[in-house]
Amino acid sequence: MSTSALCLPIVYLNGDFLPIEQAKISPLDRGFIFGDGVYEVIPYYAGRGLRPVEHLKRLQRSLDELDIRNPYPMEQWQSVIGTLIEKNGGGNIAVYIQITRGVAKRDFPPPAGLTQTVFLMANTLSTPKAEIYENGIACVSLDDSRWLRCHIKATALLGAVLLKHEGNQAGADEVVLFRDGYLTESSASNIAMVKNGVILCPPLDNLILGGITYELMIELARKAGMPLEVRRVHRREVKKADELWIMSSTKEVVPITRLDDKPVGDGKPGAVFRQMRKLFEAYKQTLPAGPALKAAE
Ligand code: PDD
Repeated sequence: MSTSALCLPIVYLNGDFLPIEQAKISPLDRGFIFGDGVYEVIPYYAGRGLRPVEHLKRLQRSLDELDIRNPYPMEQWQSVIGTLIEKNGGGNIAVYIQITRGVAKRDFPPPAGLTQTVFLMANTLSTPKAEIYENGIACVSLDDSRWLRCHIKATALLGAVLLKHEGNQAGADEVVLFRDGYLTESSASNIAMVKNGVILCPPLDNLILGGITYELMIELARKAGMPLEVRRVHRREVKKADELWIMSSTKEVVPITRLDDKPVGDGKPGAVFRQMRKLFEAYKQTLPAGPALKAAE
């Protein structure tokens, strides 16, 4: 496959905008050797960012967890992201940002004073097709075998990669993960369930990535007066869910209609999901144009 098919043509690497074919990094980059880096994925709809400030704040928190210095101030992120979108022709774009600790002799302890590697690419943001909203997706339940610092958006994603692979091999679109019997999340999305009209959301801790979409969904539900509880959810409850949803920056909110080869609820996207989807669509219409970092209220 030619590299040009892998992402939109222009990427950003360490200060330069260039065609992906010309972007080169050292094989001794600690991102390549150890997965020693963090990342973000920020959705832009016709150039309007969905909570870019929150994404960049989470990027800062991930960097802090790894003790990597943020190489750029907010304004520079704003300008790099804005230029990347522009150079790739605008439209609906998912901006991917990756920062690694940098290049060093292969040795486990992170050396001080390295120059971080900064890489950004743009991908077309293809939000779910109509049939996904009509039929939902199928998932399998798996034990969450990832590490214990899932709140960090680290590039070391082998745990998630293998779980998703296992789910796909079992014929499912996605996975629903449980740790010690409690719902955590999916391979690259958060999960919420609905029972008797109440939205149940697993609390954010070290076992879950604090999703920007998850936070937004909670906010939208509360503003609309939809019943919602943030609490641990046991596997027994998930088995009896009326509705299950996954959510992320690239998927928005999507209904799970089959779990472990059984229908979730009546096997169709539920009424609470449909209400949330409407709220989400309405929210997208309020995203401000202009500077990439201007946050929506
Ligand atoms: N994934 N949980 C995990 C493990 C994730 O990787 C993601 C995002 C989320 C949802 O977070 P947000 O709503 O901020 O996108 C939850 C991105 C999209 C990815 O890895 O491509």
